[in-house]
Amino acid sequence: MSAADAKAGSGDGTAVRLMIGADLPLHRRYSGTRDALSRVPLALLPTAVQEAGDLAEVLGAGELWFKRDDTSGPIYGGNKVRKLEFLLGDAHAAGATDIITFGAAGSNHALATALYGTREGFAVHSMLMPQPNARYVRRNLLAAQSVGADLRIFEDGDHAVRAGIRLKRKLAAEDRVPFVIPFGGTNARSTAGFVNAGLELGDQVAAGELPEPDLVFVAMGSMGTAAGIALGMRAAGMRTRVVGVPVVAYDVNTADNLLTAIVDAQAVLTAADPTFPRFAWEREDFSVATGFLGERYAQFTPEAMEAIGLAEKHAGVHLEGTYTGKALSALAAQGRAGALRGRRVLFWNTYNSRDIGALVGRGNAKRLPKRLRAYFEQDVQKLDG
Ligand SMILES: Cc1ncc(COP(=O)(O)O)c(C=O)c1O
Repeated sequence: MSAADAKAGSGDGTAVRLMIGADLPLHRRYSGTRDALSRVPLALLPTAVQEAGDLAEVLGAGELWFKRDDTSGPIYGGNKVRKLEFLLGDAHAAGATDIITFGAAGSNHALATALYGTREGFAVHSMLMPQPNARYVRRNLLAAQSVGADLRIFEDGDHAVRAGIRLKRKLAAEDRVPFVIPFGGTNARSTAGFVNAGLELGDQVAAGELPEPDLVFVAMGSMGTAAGIALGMRAAGMRTRVVGVPVVAYDVNTADNLLTAIVDAQAVLTAADPTFPRFAWEREDFSVATGFLGERYAQFTPEAMEAIGLAEKHAGVHLEGTYTGKALSALAAQGRAGALRGRRVLFWNTYNSRDIGALVGRGNAKRLPKRLRAYFEQDVQKLDG
């Protein structure tokens, strides 16, 4: 594995045949992918769509809807579950014993991988890197530790990737079979999970559960979520435009990188299923709303905190400061500027709402590596009040 592989996927290049989850119907629109993509059943689908009450008026949108991916899984929801179905499917198909993944100290992806990966029988190793402290960081660490995940922290992403490479070699030498899941759980194959999500929304529109939205706002980290939704909605015949909100870094969450993620995922799907449509994609087919990241990844912003408060008060929806709060602050800014007047807007809620309190309660901070224990000893950032 090279460092690039760690970012782009397991990189072994072998065609993976369906072994686990063969009896699971993929979305009927491209069931042909069953020959090529493995999938394990983790998610509770479809997730509901829900109108946002008077939050639409408060934020200046014609209509506002939530896509409730916060309830996407039985033990842990949020956007990672749909991707993990395919990632863990590939891991099973490769005969893996161990999962190595990457993320920030409080990564929701690392937690979701720990929870579902260990349930699927894998040993899960998380190569983590520092981030601004917040209460959710502590909770995610404890919950992951409570299910036996091996949590390690490094000085930055490069060191984490290098350590992942070393660990992969070591495990292989011990006759174990390591499988690498990249940062955020995004590769061209796992994006299929969100292509299904876009198709699922298309079904809900067709069934009259909501009108076809003009815009879908979604937070962009590793960007598989935004890419898959854009592709899936278009495959469903919708004209809805994705508005991706960068929350990691502006030089990572670019329109060009989103375009690449869409095109790469489309290539996987068309190779697997010749009936999957081949769209020509342009940068104009979606937008990237910059200006809401704040100082850096996971550093909360006053605008995000305000948006979180409004979502709670006017729609009873619980968001957070690293991803969804920032994405909603982008929507709020556009709404207040009058850009969403008369428009139908859907906010994709990518943050888990399942109660992980029992898991958190079973975790033991004392058993964490010293540098992770620091998150329990040092103050949380000011806006996490
Ligand atoms: C709550 C939440 N929303 C959105 C995202 C971004 O998703 P993606 O990495 O697919 O862009 C993440 C990723 O970690 C997340 O945890």
